[in-house]
Amino acid sequence: MTTKNKWHKTVSDDQLKEGKPLGARAGTRAVFLMRSEGRICAMGGKCSHYGGPLEKGRLQGQVITCPWHTARFDVRSGRVQAPPALDDLPRYETKVEAGDVYVRKVTAEALSAPRGKDVATVLILGAGAGGVNAALALRRNGFAGRVMMATAEADLPYDRPSLSKGFMAGDTARAELVLEPEPVYLQLGIEILGEHRATGIDRQQKTVSFSNRRRLRYDKLLLATGGTPRVPAIKGARRRGAFVLRSLRDADAIIAALSGAETVAVIGGSFLGLEVAASLRSRGLEVHVVAPETVLMARVFGAEIGEFLKRKHEEKGVVFHLGKTAVEISGGKKVSGVVLSDGSRFAAQVVVAGIGVVPSVGYLEKSGLVVNGAVPVDAGFRTRDPDVFAVGDIALVPDPLTGEARRVEHWVEAERQGRHAALGLAGVEEAFREIPFFWTNQHDVSIKYAGYASSFDRVVLRGDLEEEKVLAGYYREGALRAVASLGRTKEFLTALEILKAGGGIPPSRFEDPRADLL
Ligand SMILES: Cc1cc2nc3c(=O)[nH]c(=O)nc-3n(C[C@H](O)[C@H](O)[C@H](O)COP(=O)(O)OP(=O)(O)OC[C@H]3O[C@@H](n4cnc5c(N)ncnc54)[C@H](O)[C@@H]3O)c2cc1C
Ligand code: FES
Repeated sequence: MTTKNKWHKTVSDDQLKEGKPLGARAGTRAVFLMRSEGRICAMGGKCSHYGGPLEKGRLQGQVITCPWHTARFDVRSGRVQAPPALDDLPRYETKVEAGDVYVRKVTAEALSAPRGKDVATVLILGAGAGGVNAALALRRNGFAGRVMMATAEADLPYDRPSLSKGFMAGDTARAELVLEPEPVYLQLGIEILGEHRATGIDRQQKTVSFSNRRRLRYDKLLLATGGTPRVPAIKGARRRGAFVLRSLRDADAIIAALSGAETVAVIGGSFLGLEVAASLRSRGLEVHVVAPETVLMARVFGAEIGEFLKRKHEEKGVVFHLGKTAVEISGGKKVSGVVLSDGSRFAAQVVVAGIGVVPSVGYLEKSGLVVNGAVPVDAGFRTRDPDVFAVGDIALVPDPLTGEARRVEHWVEAERQGRHAALGLAGVEEAFREIPFFWTNQHDVSIKYAGYASSFDRVVLRGDLEEEKVLAGYYREGALRAVASLGRTKEFLTALEILKAGGGIPPSRFEDPRADLL
């Protein structure tokens, strides 16, 4: 429905070239415009995820990819095509007068409860990346049956990646973590059942039992229960002041424990550990990182980027104890320090362990759906039970390019899996074809990564790492399997397309910055 919003003059008609997005202002708001198949389209210019500038995105046909974390939108309707964005873009109608393009905001249609004939009940276990996206997508695809999302946590679904980044650093407010405000779930008829920890499923009866003694019936079930952090198997790991980080409650507890603390020990040189180290250093705390590897993140990024990351952390004052493990968290009732495998020790009042997660599948023990600690699914996220689906950290998914079974622990991947699983839950068969994507922020370094390289035999760098303008290509058996980017966003977005097409770019072309990637 169009209301009487004001027209704003933006760019001149002849500035708009087919397929080239252009940023402009409509009053105080950023918009982007483009000509798509001759027609002028205008949308809100800020990505509905974290506000990425969409005019710098990559346009392919009618879909634009956000340059920050690769959310995709249809440029004609403004609709989200792929998370991490959850909300559609504001839409603008356009007109051309005397050679200038004018835009006027189209008032958003009010969310309304679904209407339709579905009577099935979809029960979703877990309200994280996968669960929330499945619930929203079910409704946005028009599913009108009952949607229940039962989760162990009490908080409204929130942005987990921020817990180790902005929230841990004190830069992101609690309110900003909320994925969708409560009225959205109410209006869409999504029932969130907090403090419902599943303890078992009965596939014959189609029921799930919970630790609060409730039992719920389902027609279709989605398992999206994520990961449980490993607790170090060392003395003192449960002392007061020693933490793991998975939930908002964990983050709250860590932040509360910082008051009066001077030194924090981070056990593990994973993404989570390094992000926590950077965030807590920015709060002015002394931070020590203990990790068994000698080069950080080498298995993911290769040695050069690993060494670069270490230097960046050290420049900011983080102290590393690499090639060592923590053998004890010392103290009385409270943590007072960490003892290392070489016998050395240092004082710390808070310890955060980031040594990986195990898929949260304990409640599935008797279900027959778990193999080697994970839940194998097909390309539509269906388990061996046609009425049970699984996504996210617990799901073992066939890689669309290689067929290799992969389980990745990425926020955006879990979101996209959840969104896709909604199709299957609503009875639509379609294979998943997304390339895994994640990003990490550590101090002022931001790295984006796309692809799946469980191993690689060659790393090819395009650009200059020291200038923080580099695209790294990870090759296995001559094919590009994954890329990582520091400051080369445009090429990164192009590389995404190459990965989707099978990674057939020779290393010699990849590493030559004068040669176009595509
Ligand atoms: C601090 C932190 C930072 C991260 N940063 C990044 C990042 O920058 N980029 C990136 O790609 N990935 C990041 N990740 C990883 C990412 O968050 C996960 O891969 C992603 O959340 C997995 O989604 P999921 O839906 O499988 O599980 P989750 O998002 O973990 O959601 C699982 C939900 O299930 C609930 N649950 C668990 N057990 C039960 C049960 N038995 N019954 C009912 N409910 C249950 C949980 O309480 C939770 O609500 C980060 C993770 C953490 C912890
Ligand atoms: S800001 Fe656009 S995807 Fe994150």
